Amino acid sequence: MSATARKMAPNAEDIRARKGGTPLVSLTAYTTPMAQFMDGHCDFVLVGDSVGMVLHGLTSTLGVTMEMMILHGQAVARGLSQSMMVIDMPFASYEEGPAQAFRNAARLMAETGAGAVKLEGGVEMAETIRFLVKRGIPVMAHIGLTPQSINTLGGYKVQGRDAQVDAVLADARAVADAGAFSVVLEKVPQGLADRITAEVAIPTIGIGASAGCDGQILVVDDMLGFFTAFKPKFVKRYADLGPLAEAAISEYAADVRARRFPAPEHVFADQAPMAAKTAASKAPQKD
Ligand code: KIV
Repeated sequence: MSATARKMAPNAEDIRARKGGTPLVSLTAYTTPMAQFMDGHCDFVLVGDSVGMVLHGLTSTLGVTMEMMILHGQAVARGLSQSMMVIDMPFASYEEGPAQAFRNAARLMAETGAGAVKLEGGVEMAETIRFLVKRGIPVMAHIGLTPQSINTLGGYKVQGRDAQVDAVLADARAVADAGAFSVVLEKVPQGLADRITAEVAIPTIGIGASAGCDGQILVVDDMLGFFTAFKPKFVKRYADLGPLAEAAISEYAADVRARRFPAPEHVFADQAPMAAKTAASKAPQKD
């Protein structure tokens, strides 16, 4: 983003007001450099609990802790000035009830500077969402496939086909009525996602849902090709950086073993050249 195009980061109410407008753009981020790449291109950046799988090698998001979320949230916050930051509440940090949820949501926001939290669940989380919102914590809801519940959902399955339609619709209505400022629809069939988008007054953010949603989100390591363990159908690979990184590392390894690296331009002479000596006497030296 050029200096002249600089803008303020939106807040939860700005995101809510984008209902029905130009689609909201979002990606996950877990580190400062990746957040810097996204800043200004995304309306909001999610510090997702997917961090456990994409950066820490966990097989699900269930092992992600408050401490992990805070550490990654602080890193992402350092890279953002023009995009809003939303942070995931990790498994077991909010399900006991509103008081536990408030304590942990407030800690996540206070220690990372996030503008909102995201939590998974529909009807069963409505009371908690209402409690948080009334006490100053903007909540993004997440319904459909909720990865923290894979053990009760039976895996990473599409949610909302056939007999499940009414339950997913009820979840969407419940989180909107409870005061969530937006709702992520994950792995919800296209027709149902469009119906929810038409019915609820808050922006729907699709991931494996529909181009008709009010916005889209992807896990950044999926869309850049860094996470290669598997590729969900809903992921579009915009780059294939994983194989590029491996090729570069393998070239470096070959260069080191063959003593091609470091080359003359990467090493320091024992004696400083005259010109550099003169400059060095005026400026502080790094080496
Ligand atoms: O943790 C995450 O990355 C998410 C997105 C998939 C929405 O919740």
